[in-house]
Amino acid sequence: MIVLGIETSCDETAAAVLADGAKILASVVASQDQVHAPYGGIVPELASRRHVETIVPVIQKALGDAGLRLGDLDGIAVTQGPGLVGSLLVGCSVAKALAYVTRCPLVGVNHLEGHIFAAFLQEPSPTHPFLALVVSGGHTALYLAPEPLRYALIGQTRDDAAGEAFDKVAKLLGLGYPGGPSIELTAKSGDPRAIALPMAQMTDGAPDFSFSGVKTAVALHVKRAGRLSSAAVADIAASFQATVVKMLVRQCVRAALSLGIRRLVLTGGVAANRALREALQAEATEREWELFIPPPALCTDNAAMIAAAGHARLQAGERASLTMNALPDLRLA
Ligand code: KG4
Ligand code: ZN
Repeated sequence: MIVLGIETSCDETAAAVLADGAKILASVVASQDQVHAPYGGIVPELASRRHVETIVPVIQKALGDAGLRLGDLDGIAVTQGPGLVGSLLVGCSVAKALAYVTRCPLVGVNHLEGHIFAAFLQEPSPTHPFLALVVSGGHTALYLAPEPLRYALIGQTRDDAAGEAFDKVAKLLGLGYPGGPSIELTAKSGDPRAIALPMAQMTDGAPDFSFSGVKTAVALHVKRAGRLSSAAVADIAASFQATVVKMLVRQCVRAALSLGIRRLVLTGGVAANRALREALQAEATEREWELFIPPPALCTDNAAMIAAAGHARLQAGERASLTMNALPDLRLA
């Protein structure tokens, strides 16, 4: 089965062609980073306008790269939510129009399930049950997947998403947008123990996350320090990154231990971060747990992961009607 995946939930316009649920024939991601960089964050109105301009050429390029035509498709999968409503609407409208003309079955995909399905685009892929840590610009959550296509929410952020914290701290430090990659790069020359930053503790012991405290601590530090040398910026970036990584790994390990789960998936844009990948890998190796982390290009937003989740749902008999629409607050569990 050949599935076209379409992803426009945030600031990446993406299309991919996937064969048999795991073979990527083409994956095109048009980033809008340059559009939003001057603002240090995503401007929703600009994002949806750019999606409108880019989506058709991106789909054409994906089909061209795969050497296929619309008539070769067996299914169409589109991100239905969560995300920015104006952005989601562009993908959903195009997907519905294509489903109408090709008479292909259509399925709406939850963006977070898409991130989890990125782990199924490589061999070996996880078996169930597993615990997935999804860390992106909009979400930070732990999901238990007891069986295929079923999820339970185990914990989530109580304030900012981890990626959002990276983006905000990068802005504070005068680093480029998006913040994750620029902090990772800057942190390389810094000392992760240079400044002590607070680790959020959940007083009720829940496997939740909180990143606003560490972000505020960085803001105060920057304010007090006044002008910062580039060495000082590197130290702050390294300390911030190390603290966020520690918090993510700690809560993930705690949840896995309390659930008795020995199989983990790490995914979402922040999972492209090498320090995080290595820290969770070290824990998994030490405990003899299985850990699945998609390659960085499949951790950040892409349409191959949407096609993969869509393929599984189409195989399970799921169909969306042509009246389906964007659901900006769609939940996975
Ligand atoms: O999954 P994603 O591409 O989009 C959303 O669904 O939100 O995640 C984007 C987020 C951004 O906040 C970005 O700064 C962060 O992922 N990110 C990273 C890295 N690459 C992207 N964070 C830390 N280190 C990275 N290397
Ligand atoms: Zn995402």
